Amino acid sequence: ALAHEELEKTMEQVCRILYENVPHYNWVGFYLTDPSKRDELVLGPFVGEPTEHVRIPFGRGICGQAAERRVTFVVQDVSKETNYLSCSPKVESEIVVPIVVNGEVLGELDIDSHVLNSFDENDRNFLERICEKISQKVRMKG
Ligand code: SME
Repeated sequence: ALAHEELEKTMEQVCRILYENVPHYNWVGFYLTDPSKRDELVLGPFVGEPTEHVRIPFGRGICGQAAERRVTFVVQDVSKETNYLSCSPKVESEIVVPIVVNGEVLGELDIDSHVLNSFDENDRNFLERICEKISQKVRMKG
C-alpha cells in the first residue's frame, strides 16, 4: 500500500500550492476516512486557521454529506445551509470533493472561501482532477 507518509506529503503540498496561489481559497485541507471506523472523517493536512472540527461523522456537515454521497458539494452561501459545521464566521462559501478509491471514500478535499459564490465550474473541474490524480496514485501503489 502507498505509504501513509507519502500520501500525507502529497496532500500537504497540494494544500500549500492551492492556498498560496488562489486568493479566494482561504482554508484548504484534507479529511481522511478513519480506516477503523469507516464512517467518520479525521482532519488531515491543512493550511489556514485551526478548526475545532477534527472528526466529522459521515452525514454531518458539508464534509460528512459529501463523504456519504460520494459526490462533490458546492455551497455558494453557507448561511443558507442547515446541515453545516462552521469553522470560522468569515467563511461564506465552500467546496468539498471526495477522493474515491475502489468505490470507497478515502477522504476529501475541503476548501473554504471568505467570498460568496466563489466556486465556479473551473474550480470544480480543477479540484476534481486533483482528487482523481490522488485516487490514481493510491490505486497504483495499493
Ligand atoms: N464546513 C465543514 C466543516 C469543515 S471546516 O470547513 C474546515 C462542514 O460543514 O462539513
